[in-house]
Amino acid sequence: MIEIVSLRKEYDNITPLTDVNAVINDGDIISVIGPSGMGKSTFLRCINMLEKPTSGKIIVNGQDITAPGCNLQKIRQKMGMVFQSFNLFSHMTVIENIMAPQTDLLRRTRQEAYDEAVRLLKLVGLSEKAFSYPDEMSGGQKQRVAIARCLAMDPDTILFDEPTSALDPTMVGEVQAVISELAGTGKTMIIVTHEMGFARAIANRVFYMDEGGIYEEGTPEEIFESPRKEKTRQFIRGLKVLELTVREQRFDFLGMQTEIESYCRKNLIPYRMSRHLHLAFEELVQQILVPGMDRPDIFCSIEYSEKDEKVLFSVSYGGDEIDMSGEDSSLALSVLKSAVTDLGHEVSAEGARKNHVSMTILP
Ligand SMILES: Nc1ncnc2c1ncn2[C@@H]1O[C@H](COP(=O)(O)OP(=O)(O)OP(=O)(O)O)[C@@H](O)[C@H]1O
Ligand SMILES: [Mg+2]
Repeated sequence: MIEIVSLRKEYDNITPLTDVNAVINDGDIISVIGPSGMGKSTFLRCINMLEKPTSGKIIVNGQDITAPGCNLQKIRQKMGMVFQSFNLFSHMTVIENIMAPQTDLLRRTRQEAYDEAVRLLKLVGLSEKAFSYPDEMSGGQKQRVAIARCLAMDPDTILFDEPTSALDPTMVGEVQAVISELAGTGKTMIIVTHEMGFARAIANRVFYMDEGGIYEEGTPEEIFESPRKEKTRQFIRGLKVLELTVREQRFDFLGMQTEIESYCRKNLIPYRMSRHLHLAFEELVQQILVPGMDRPDIFCSIEYSEKDEKVLFSVSYGGDEIDMSGEDSSLALSVLKSAVTDLGHEVSAEGARKNHVSMTILP
């Protein structure tokens, strides 16, 4: 059990943590979420004393690890950490990376360390990479090696600080799958992540951090479906709704597609649906609407409802109504129709953007 009592961390110019209190039970899987800069990483680094708290206590199985003279190396062996940037030794092969801490810190023989490394590589699905060097591997593979190396110390607790945020989107799933496997093994895990679908699926408790501490905590269902406090509500709503505004002919199309991509990832929107959403945005906004406007004023809203597993895409625009079935856009319209259903068009009497197009993205 880990008890965190009135934890405070000040830096020279900023105090990210003013008063953090929590009791983390053995076997808890905790997702830590919240806006950038709210002290999530600082919180994790304080828990294993990589960062020295300004005040407060961290009590691990009855022992106050903030007390002077505490054997931090021993504590850290029982509390592994996985970082965004794998931190593997590039001059060592994969298996040596996993063996080294075992022989150095746990005094295991090379044979014992080797056997354990082989077992762990199998666990993370990388048996065939034992003698590769980190530079010869993909980001997802490197992160799985980093997880194996952490497990080699047989920690009771693992702290993950955004373990998938440095990865190419195609590799996020493999690393999340390995972490999910571990969640069933009784280890305590604290995971800081911006991938909300994952945060929700894996945890039994969610901490939302804001205002210098754990602003709200609850079950995944409570936090993601019915948060009680104002800032949590705003944050959760911001995750579920993506808003994009187009105000120029030569708008940043690729940038917006990237935002849509990251929105789909955060919400674990299935691959096909995400392709359809990209298509709908491209055909409707870039192919049909923008070319007919001198000064575009287009507002797009994308909203995912997890309950119905539906993505609603609505677009409002100013100026005259654009004939979507006109000759120039007929190809774009038929592509659009292959990706969406319930395509509706309305014109309202008032407002700057009177034209409204709405649709449901096909699964
Ligand atoms: N070593 C440091 N020295 C000074 N300020 C720091 C240090 N580390 C973090 N900070 C500041 O403390 C605040 C909290 O940072 P932290 O990295 O914990 O946030 P975070 O919630 O993890 O954000 P993100 O989601 O972007 O990773 C930030 O304003 C950051 O700039
Ligand atoms: Mg961080």
